[in-house]
Amino acid sequence: EKGGYEHFMLKEIFEQPRSILDSMRGRLELGGSHLNMAGFRAYEQKFVNAQRIIIVACGTSWHAGLVAEYLIEDLARIPVEVEYASEFRYRNPVISERDIVIAISQSGETADTLAALELAKSKGATIFGICNVVGSSIARATDAGAYTHAGPEIGVASTKAFTAQVTVLTLLAMCIGQRRGTITDVKLRELVTELHNIPTKVEKALKLDAEIQQIAETFKDVPNFLYLGRGYNFPVALEGALKLKEISYIHAEGYPAAEMKHGPIALIDENMPVVVIATKDSSYEKVVSNIQEVKARKGRIIAVVTEGDTTIPAMAEFVIEVPPTSEVLVPLVSVIPLQLLSYHIAVLRGCNVDQPRNLAKSVTVE
Ligand code: M6R
Repeated sequence: EKGGYEHFMLKEIFEQPRSILDSMRGRLELGGSHLNMAGFRAYEQKFVNAQRIIIVACGTSWHAGLVAEYLIEDLARIPVEVEYASEFRYRNPVISERDIVIAISQSGETADTLAALELAKSKGATIFGICNVVGSSIARATDAGAYTHAGPEIGVASTKAFTAQVTVLTLLAMCIGQRRGTITDVKLRELVTELHNIPTKVEKALKLDAEIQQIAETFKDVPNFLYLGRGYNFPVALEGALKLKEISYIHAEGYPAAEMKHGPIALIDENMPVVVIATKDSSYEKVVSNIQEVKARKGRIIAVVTEGDTTIPAMAEFVIEVPPTSEVLVPLVSVIPLQLLSYHIAVLRGCNVDQPRNLAKSVTVE
């Protein structure tokens, strides 16, 4: 049932070219600009007129929510707030009937996420669900939604569910933007084409496996890791750090790269590995300066860069090259090496990667 892989997690990481395709299937046509999301269509007017979108989720799903904040604000120009479901539900939040709440959950059973959406529903908000498990409690409690269709995810560490969530949220942001007229047809077609190329690019990123295993060998015994990214890669940094801590038990923190100088930079010395996600996008130059800051303090840099980058390889101890893509789609590609890195480090440390200690696949207690 692991399809020849040693662990479910590895199998699920390698399934991503396929699962991302499954998340898009039937929802867009190559070359065109016609998007087809049934759940969106039913609530189109609500989305068009929404004064705000609030995203509630936990863990990795919350990270997908953060990516969606960038996507929706970029493409659809609606203000977005991303909330930990557990905080949102207990803090007497301001919610109105013109708000749309998007609940993101792989399992569809996370207690805090379910309670958060019930609360928002009682205040009259429209609830949209992004779930993987069909017929799950959260899917049933929402007004409308879109399934991620990633297939069953068994490993406790969420991998293919994350990329599926990001794919569906991208489509949703495109749908809203198209309806609101905040995205041009040219841009939309460009994104549709590029989305179709994503599975191949993910496939290519997966070929880095052996290379990443080598990097894992080098760092398997360190006590700490830092992950840095900006823009669309900031949530990816958080996700990379979460993946590492939950399965390898190495302490890791993700940060927006520019926040380093407000504290975490004090941690950097010759023993600190720093994973920097530094793909060629609008924050590239700034990330290069952040790398210089780390290097000046002798931090050990592992950089995820765009193929063909010649600047960063001269500064980093290790470089992982991923294929270029549109800036808004970059998380789908840049997260892949981070999933593999955490996987290999955990395996080398003898950890139970599919069932890490103290964790459950669905957290049905608050
Ligand atoms: O099923 P959900 O997406 O609601 O689960 C949320 C989190 O419990 C989950 O993403 C958790 O953080 C994962 N173990 C991360 O890999």
